[in-house]
Amino acid sequence: MKTVLIAGGSGLIGKKLNQVLSKRGYKVYTLTRKAKHRGQIYWNPAQQTIEGKHLDKVNIIINLTGENIGEKRWTNERKKALRDSRVKTTQFLHSLVSNLPNLEYYIAASGINCYEQDNEIHVESDVYGTDFLSKLVKEWEAVSDLFESNCKVAKLRISMVLSKRGGALDKMLLPVKLGLGSPIGTGTQMMPWIHIDDLCNLFVYAIENELAGTYNAMANCDSNHDFMKALAKALKRPFFMPKVPAFLLKLMLGEMSALVLDSTNASNEKVKNAGFVFQHEAIESTLSALLKR
Ligand SMILES: NC(=O)c1ccc[n+]([C@@H]2O[C@H](COP(=O)([O-])OP(=O)(O)OC[C@H]3O[C@@H](n4cnc5c(N)ncnc54)[C@H](OP(=O)(O)O)[C@@H]3O)[C@@H](O)[C@H]2O)c1
Repeated sequence: MKTVLIAGGSGLIGKKLNQVLSKRGYKVYTLTRKAKHRGQIYWNPAQQTIEGKHLDKVNIIINLTGENIGEKRWTNERKKALRDSRVKTTQFLHSLVSNLPNLEYYIAASGINCYEQDNEIHVESDVYGTDFLSKLVKEWEAVSDLFESNCKVAKLRISMVLSKRGGALDKMLLPVKLGLGSPIGTGTQMMPWIHIDDLCNLFVYAIENELAGTYNAMANCDSNHDFMKALAKALKRPFFMPKVPAFLLKLMLGEMSALVLDSTNASNEKVKNAGFVFQHEAIESTLSALLKR
């Protein structure tokens, strides 16, 4: 069976993906700045250092590294950290290809928040937007393409990952649990999402079906109103509070409020046409199943 190296494999997606791939028989190594356990390889991309062991066995790299987009306000310093931890880290990884003689495939994490702010349903061939996240994705995907001279490359434009173990859903739970569930801003902004199990299965599907190119990794898009209503329903909490005004979020979160206020509508036809079948496509049943005690 093939050997997979997951860079940034200690995070929300990486931990689950490691389990899924290992269960399927892959040999999995994780690249992390805090290596402690077997199967973890130490690196520090900012200092351009890496422990070289096992790299010669690697057939597939999945790169999930990146400072968390929703963790801190986007000051100029934070924006640099968000960029460097994706772009410079990928460049460093690519500089190591001569130590990776068996590399066959590179899968890059990317983001679905990369399209123009309009009412279109976006497909992968559409132009990038001009906001901070779109520009970040453009640069991140361009450096991922460096691997094309060495192996096959796929870029998964990941949407909001729904998991009971953290991530965006975790942040939305508290107000709803307190009975303060309500739409955010106009509530009409579209939010693409994917269940973490579907996302992990998509990585496996990409490997086993040799997908190449860019794919929107999303099961569905719901309006913020419908998403928040489904969340309140899944938690058996009321949903009648007034909308949270956009200006309040802009005041609290600054430019990062784009994560909840901007609208991204996109299509998953390309990945479906490539044969991938989603297990979780309806927001109500997906949230109910995830939040079931
Ligand atoms: N979760 C989502 O909803 C979502 C949606 C769209 C796109 N994505 C993208 O998918 C990727 C994985 O997401 P995730 O939710 O699993 O993220 P996560 O839980 O925040 O984990 C990211 C991993 O990146 C590594 N990392 C963070 N800062 C780093 C730095 N400065 N240098 C090197 N490594 C660094 C960390 O590994 P160590 O600390 O162990 O080194 C961490 O385990 C990210 O690039 C994210 O932007 C995620």
